[in-house]
Amino acid sequence: MRFKTAIAVGLAGMLALAGCSGGGTPATTPAANAGGATTAAGPAGGAEGGAGGDVGVFTWWAEGSEKDGLAELEKLFEQDFPNNTFVNLAVAGGAGSNAKAKLAADLQNNNPPESFQGHAGAELMDYIDADQIEPVNDIIDELGGDSVFPKNLLDLISVDGDIFSVPSNVHRSNVVWVNPAVLAEAGISTDAPADLDAWIADLEKLKAAGVDTPISVGTAAWTQVHLFESILLAELGTDEYNKLFEPGASWDTDAVKSAVSKYAKVLTYANTGGADDWPAATVMVIDGKAGYNIMGDWAVAEFNSKNKTYGTDYLAWPTPGTDGTFLFLADSFTLAKGAKNPEGAKDWLRLVGSAEGQKAFNIVKGSIPARTDVAAGDFPEYQQSAMTSFKEDKIASSIAHGAAANNAWNSEIGTAISKFWTDKDEAGLVSGLVAAADKNNK
Ligand code: GAL
Repeated sequence: MRFKTAIAVGLAGMLALAGCSGGGTPATTPAANAGGATTAAGPAGGAEGGAGGDVGVFTWWAEGSEKDGLAELEKLFEQDFPNNTFVNLAVAGGAGSNAKAKLAADLQNNNPPESFQGHAGAELMDYIDADQIEPVNDIIDELGGDSVFPKNLLDLISVDGDIFSVPSNVHRSNVVWVNPAVLAEAGISTDAPADLDAWIADLEKLKAAGVDTPISVGTAAWTQVHLFESILLAELGTDEYNKLFEPGASWDTDAVKSAVSKYAKVLTYANTGGADDWPAATVMVIDGKAGYNIMGDWAVAEFNSKNKTYGTDYLAWPTPGTDGTFLFLADSFTLAKGAKNPEGAKDWLRLVGSAEGQKAFNIVKGSIPARTDVAAGDFPEYQQSAMTSFKEDKIASSIAHGAAANNAWNSEIGTAISKFWTDKDEAGLVSGLVAAADKNNK
């Protein structure tokens, strides 16, 4: 793996390499959403009205609230590039659980879309290493280069000066979504607990009060990896968590074992079925069937689609024990090698990377713009809090969403986590995690 070092350290490592101590706001911290510009300029460059032809865009934003952000982009694409025809190739399934296999087959069969969704960091490096995507430096330059995209985010999608995608958004993974009415009914404070143990004590109180599902989780393996990464971060702390992704790092440690025990404990308060993918697990909180759910902040779109109000109907906290850290992932869009309509693909990238596109998309998606010049004040309260955290807090990289671990490693972690869902064998989960790291983190 040519680029392993750069990948494995991830965004947090980039900050460290830049001489930043973390926790503060160093000059190189992605100054995401610092406010400032109030206009949302539309895309520049390219042929007037677009290159023409079909532009196939592959994502996993296919159903329910998941597709609402994409619909905003589609609308703008048709408005700004009327010569082009947007072809929606989305395949449903959270975190790309179905889409990634379809994409891999399409790429393998020389049937690429014009552009596909990929996570900044280790996952994107898979596509670069496999020679499946083209550099897009010209588009990034047109869009404003590192004066509008955080330099260290660009580093996660670059190799030897070539930039391989256009970042559309930044999501936060370590968020607990809370139904305050369920907590109040059980006499539990709606303030965030100080740490994981205090939160586990509240889960126990909810159970004792007769709530069947104190915390909801999906049966899809990735939703469990998502829950696990938050607990791993809480138990290890940010620096030790980040070190797990340095090449050759051992996962055979007491800290990982203890995180696995805490994860096992938390699962004793979770549903064992009844929710497949993330929307159903989030809806359990929305409907008052569960007190909590840990999910990325795309959950905002689900709450919005059910007309729920942040701060009253639902609350959001950093996973207890991870306050002060933003567990990071970023979606980005590629120019697929061998795309039939590369100029049309570039028009799509122009829109995705524009201030206009990022404002419209991120307000609805629950994420925050990757660009630094989209005014924070235009965003709802939850996203404003995420912007502040991203700007000021330490950064750690998500496993489940391709920032810290590439597709193969992520999938092997998913297999170990999935086995544990059934057999509850803690030692087995630890050895599965250790084997996955030993094999993939070279
Ligand atoms: C992530 C992706 C998000 C959201 C989520 C749930 O991997 O980055 O944008 O779509 O999956 O499907």
